[in-house]
Amino acid sequence: MNSSITNLECTLCGTTYPHTEAMRLCPDDGKPLFARYDLEKAAQTLTKDAMPGRRNDMWRYEEMMPVQDSASVISLGEGHTPLFTAEPLGESLGMGKLLIKDEGVNPTGSFKARGLSAAVSMAHQLGLRKLTMPSAGNAAGAMSAYAAKAGMEAHVFMPKDAPQANQLECVAYGAKLNLVDGFITDAGKISAEAAEQHGLFDVSTLREPYRAEGKKTMGYEIVEQLNFEVPDVIVYPTGGGTGIVGIWKALDEMEALGWIGEERPRMVCVQAEGCAPIVTAYRNDEEFAEPFPNPHTLAAGMRVPAAVGDFLVLRAVRESGGTALTVNDDEMVDAVRRMSEFEGIFPAPEGGATLAALERLLATGEVRKDERVVLLNTGSALKYMDVLGPVLADA
Ligand SMILES: Cc1ncc(COP(=O)(O)O)c(C=O)c1O
Repeated sequence: MNSSITNLECTLCGTTYPHTEAMRLCPDDGKPLFARYDLEKAAQTLTKDAMPGRRNDMWRYEEMMPVQDSASVISLGEGHTPLFTAEPLGESLGMGKLLIKDEGVNPTGSFKARGLSAAVSMAHQLGLRKLTMPSAGNAAGAMSAYAAKAGMEAHVFMPKDAPQANQLECVAYGAKLNLVDGFITDAGKISAEAAEQHGLFDVSTLREPYRAEGKKTMGYEIVEQLNFEVPDVIVYPTGGGTGIVGIWKALDEMEALGWIGEERPRMVCVQAEGCAPIVTAYRNDEEFAEPFPNPHTLAAGMRVPAAVGDFLVLRAVRESGGTALTVNDDEMVDAVRRMSEFEGIFPAPEGGATLAALERLLATGEVRKDERVVLLNTGSALKYMDVLGPVLADA
């Protein structure tokens, strides 16, 4: 692989570390590490003109991906997902430039495939063979699939109310599934203890540096699919925040590569009314978020009461001139139905949340009807049948 990676860097204190060692959080301040690259070197070959002939998955941006050894790339064809113009849905809202990036068509049915392909590949390159993670559902399915492909051992710690499909797929992929009577944060503590006791490498999101590198490719794709322009607004359903943080990182990298200028989309962070730590911090003008008490929402991916990358999400939202808002579960389900009926995309409730949020922002005038807006449908509703089935059938 023609990777231009040079080192890791702490997102808060800026201390640098080698990418050639297995690292998790910054040892000094416990904050996430980002992969850094030789951008001048990458810009020589990662040019706009070079893109059409490249492989049709997220590894097409190989200069800006962390893996150096091709034999360690563990791929199931993740990324290169469609960016549709949502004409009928847009028309119903009076919008001419509404776009949906459909991540539900990824391997394992969600955008988590990107992050886990990158993380499992790097773990493989570093010689790690036993992985663990806490997960609300989709990430565990993705880790288990990539670990299966790589011949690695996978341990999953999942809240017992996670969607059934996620539990089943982990078992099918041969992972060791442990159901936890608690929230994702409780699962995180148990996963960390298991890592310590049994010599497992914990790939919790943003607590290892490379899942963000996979997810950032959504940003590269959006820009490439818009012919190297940025949209006006990107609406993102936020749990741990890795996706929104990754896209924001990608935009800075693309400016350095000469793909775009200083212009940026307004980044919109959507959370559920029943679990909104980052939205609360945004409203209170805080740099870090407080853990959200008694988190509840049917969107399992947004049931994340505390996130180690909270300040990075808040930075992206504020620096971009975007906003953070909540929607409730009824609005999400209603939006799932309308995205399905108008567009033939059966979105996860998290994807529905982006449409519900857009409608609120159109009503307040924070988004104009003539703007180019990208909704990120992060997964497929087919993973949520036990949760969505009863409420959709009610209608
Ligand atoms: C379908 C779906 N959407 C959104 C999210 C939240 O993702 P992030 O951690 O990038 O905020 C998740 C996380 O589990 C998810 O599964």
